Amino acid sequence: MCGIVGYIGNKKATPVLIDGLLCLEYRGYDSAGIATIENDSIKVMKDKGRVNNLYNLEGINDLEGTVGIAHTRWATHGKPSKENSHPHMDNSNTFAVVHNGIIENYSELREFLSKNGYNFLSQTDTEVIPNLIHYYYTNGPVSILENINERFLGAVKSAVNDLKGSYAIEAISPICPNEIIVVRKDSPLVIGKGKSENFIASDIPAILTHTKDFYLLDDNEFAVVSKNKVRFFDNSLIEHNKAIKNIEWDANAAGKDGYEDYMLKEINEQPTAIRETIGSRFKLGEKCSFHDIDITKEYLSSVNRIFFVACGTAWHAGLVGKALMENLCKIPTEVDIASEFRYRNPIIDEHTLCIYISQSGETADTIAALKLAKSHGAKTLAISNVIGSSITREADYSIYTHAGPEIAVASTKAYTSQVALVAILAMYFAEILGTSSESEIEKLKSDLIDLPSKIEQILANTDEIKNFAKKIYTEKDMFFLGRGTDYNVALEGSLKLKEISYIHSEAYAAGELKHGPIALIENGVTVIGIITNPDLVEKSISNIQEVITRGAKTLIITNQIIPNGHFDYVLTIPETNPLISPILSVIPMQLLSYYISKFKGLDVDKPRNLAKSVTVE
Ligand code: G6P
Repeated sequence: MCGIVGYIGNKKATPVLIDGLLCLEYRGYDSAGIATIENDSIKVMKDKGRVNNLYNLEGINDLEGTVGIAHTRWATHGKPSKENSHPHMDNSNTFAVVHNGIIENYSELREFLSKNGYNFLSQTDTEVIPNLIHYYYTNGPVSILENINERFLGAVKSAVNDLKGSYAIEAISPICPNEIIVVRKDSPLVIGKGKSENFIASDIPAILTHTKDFYLLDDNEFAVVSKNKVRFFDNSLIEHNKAIKNIEWDANAAGKDGYEDYMLKEINEQPTAIRETIGSRFKLGEKCSFHDIDITKEYLSSVNRIFFVACGTAWHAGLVGKALMENLCKIPTEVDIASEFRYRNPIIDEHTLCIYISQSGETADTIAALKLAKSHGAKTLAISNVIGSSITREADYSIYTHAGPEIAVASTKAYTSQVALVAILAMYFAEILGTSSESEIEKLKSDLIDLPSKIEQILANTDEIKNFAKKIYTEKDMFFLGRGTDYNVALEGSLKLKEISYIHSEAYAAGELKHGPIALIENGVTVIGIITNPDLVEKSISNIQEVITRGAKTLIITNQIIPNGHFDYVLTIPETNPLISPILSVIPMQLLSYYISKFKGLDVDKPRNLAKSVTVE
């Protein structure tokens, strides 16, 4: 979703800003723009379309300013257009603002400003912000008006006080040409510290080539960023100090590393991501340990229900988590989509443990669902890939997948790492509670340790999948079927296909097929069946037989011995425990979607309408 970059230092700001925006492209956007301070005025350059188009804008190379803000917009209020692109200015061209998030009361504020003589050039919610800043700068409380040095900050603060919704904001003005003011609420923003220069971004990878030292801005916190200093203020404008966080991600890890696309690189990084996620959390013959959390037997014994709450692919990881928790820990577990959970009055109390899975740690619905559980007295545990992300700062406990930065919009290595981490967490709980036998857990540990080399085996032989993709890439509809965790992973396979190939697809629990969807099966429809649970082989085969009878073309992904001659294509993957088999069976489905998308000539990494990090409801 929208991305923010800012720069203040001695260099020309424009190239730094545009480079930063290019690094944020993966978040999803439809327009881009920058604003710099040139002599005594603000120069804005913006348009709909790709970030690289900015280089074609007349005069962009003449910008000399060393202070600037930049933005990629993912349209919410008003269609993608030059007028609706950020940055937006107030009517007097004194303040320029970029904004991520949604201002829920913008109509009210627009009306108020209109009554006070302000005009609007765009349909955006954002345009109220620079005008409110101007309003308070000129009409603000006496305390603001008198304190000339901090009058800009005071005006931003007064404007922000009027906003309802979510925001990460950068504001500049030639009145204070040596500072950028930033503030956030429910939308991420980080400040990167350099030498005689500072950087701002909505995401760490955007500025990782410049610095590894970051300030992670908190909700309702303001920062005044100048080239040699960053000052932090709370909501009452009381100044405070803030600690720097060193982020160990390698800037190269955020590059393509010779691969054609980020998605292909990330698919191939899965063995490493899982090895890193297992890390030192367990060894054969030793109990699992999580140094980062302190969960006691007393507390765990009091938990009578677990919820996994997440969105998108992370929700699919939660579905596998349910099977793991119930099988190993014998605790009833529910899985909820965050946007549903937060509005359905779930039954939560101090005996409920709510586990939130989020690659980015910034998904608005997941964060809101976490706050809800906390307000009901439940303990919350966050699983994220981004150290210091918003969700980890809200949760009682946080644990991390170590997948490295995931850039492609379609999640791959984050999913497999999430499932691996949830499996380790379930073993850890089971060891504390004594709910599974040592031998059962020891076997699962050894299966987990073997996963990376088994993924490597699948990745070493992708021709079959590519050939199959070539045969079916022009299709309009596909179905994915499975039972148990095979159904869970079928949902993920189907989502991958939709996201990057734009082919309509449905995933069904194989046994549910007869209750409706089978009506859609006709000659030539492709059905992908996943069969990895030895106890369910025969039942799954019967269901797939039913679609074959009705003319379906079938691809079976399996680690079982299945009868010859029934299916059009059979792809054999290595065997593992059914509880973690999605980590292996998802790989051919990721590759299938990838190749289909490539054969269709689509942009694999930046599928239409989608955003990597969904920071609005
Ligand atoms: C977006 C992304 C998905 C992701 C989902 C949840 O829809 O495109 O890939 O699974 O958000 O994101 P999170 O960062 O919370 O895991």
